Amino acid sequence: MENRQTVALIKGDGIGVDVSNATVRIVNAALEKAGAPQLTFEEINAGATCFAETGHDIAPDGEDRAGAADAIFLGAIGLPSIRHEDGTEISPHLRLRDRFGLYAGVRPVKAYPNAPQRLADPRAASIDMVILRESTEGLFYSAAAHGRSQIIGDSEVRDTLRITRTTTEKLHRFAFRLAQKRKARGAPGCVTCVDKANVFASMAFFRKIYDEIAPEFPNIDRAYAYVDAQALNLIRAPWEADVLVMENMFGDILSDLAGGLVGGMGMAACAEIGDNHGLFQPAHGSAPDIMGQDKANPLAAILSGALLLDYLAEKSDVESFAKAGQWIEHAVDAGFEANLLRPMEFGGDMGTDAVTTQLLSLIAADAAPKSA
Ligand SMILES: NC(=O)c1ccc[n+]([C@@H]2O[C@H](COP(=O)([O-])OP(=O)(O)OC[C@H]3O[C@@H](n4cnc5c(N)ncnc54)[C@H](O)[C@@H]3O)[C@@H](O)[C@H]2O)c1
Repeated sequence: MENRQTVALIKGDGIGVDVSNATVRIVNAALEKAGAPQLTFEEINAGATCFAETGHDIAPDGEDRAGAADAIFLGAIGLPSIRHEDGTEISPHLRLRDRFGLYAGVRPVKAYPNAPQRLADPRAASIDMVILRESTEGLFYSAAAHGRSQIIGDSEVRDTLRITRTTTEKLHRFAFRLAQKRKARGAPGCVTCVDKANVFASMAFFRKIYDEIAPEFPNIDRAYAYVDAQALNLIRAPWEADVLVMENMFGDILSDLAGGLVGGMGMAACAEIGDNHGLFQPAHGSAPDIMGQDKANPLAAILSGALLLDYLAEKSDVESFAKAGQWIEHAVDAGFEANLLRPMEFGGDMGTDAVTTQLLSLIAADAAPKSA
């Protein structure tokens, strides 16, 4: 079929399997509703269970097949009970990030009605931002897995924070384009450069490149924040934030902080995007404490599915994929608003299957989202 796109589907371990299955059901329904072409899901076996059963952390041709697909969807990988001999966990997905240069880590943070909000100020109900975390360099350049730390006996360890012009230019352009896209859907249209340019040369370089790129996007406002002040602002007035762009380690910390403001892990969607590849996954893990019990909140995975559709729309120039993504977001919004979505994660009475089935009804019945 014309325009038939392929999605590599790595369900992984624990609740990763359940939330992946839920996402496929919802994505298929949204595509149909939006009159978009269906997708071909190509399953790839990977994860801790795969390792225990086959001795490989991913099927032997898995990385190549993931690379050949138009997008990759991942449930969750890892089980603390299954490890390599050196004690580290099974994590083939980290290789995918490196291999495919997935530099742009997109973490949307949005408050939904009737979902937990941690701030008493009523304006917290309007939190709607994206944390854009550079994901291939920064301080994680020295992550232990890469073996790049300078270890001086037992007396000192030095890690390196690496900022390159090539990646940073791409990151800032990505941030401004994202702000443009969000502005078209009603957001303020502002990119905040979050750094520590007052102290570190690497961070002053990060900000210098931001200033070089910004004039390419005259309709988007510029803002600056040192990371410590930004942490304060995320508690003081998170509703003012639109797109926040930052180095890897800062993004690692602030995205969890921001996610905590609007609920729990079950709402934390994530996209990891490079020049030619995109990987979409919920930010949570395999949740062994609740696996096999139909208790997982599938919404983080499902909202990651909406991000995947948006990505495919741009990549393939098929606008109806974006409309399908908007149907999903709209159904989640409407479901919370009407208190029809009550995940167990937030003390509600609905497990994975019930949330998914309810969302299917909302997609089938609901009026079109404003922008669709
Ligand atoms: N990207 C990934 O695939 C990824 C990310 C984080 C952790 N992991 C792996 O997952 C395993 C478990 O890690 P963890 O326990 O530190 O983190 P986790 O995210 O799996 O679970 C943390 C807590 O959040 C809850 N939780 C997570 N997702 C939920 C959801 N959708 N609905 C309801 N509750 C949810 C869990 O029940 C648990 O109490 C480990 O093997 C870890 O390495 C994988």
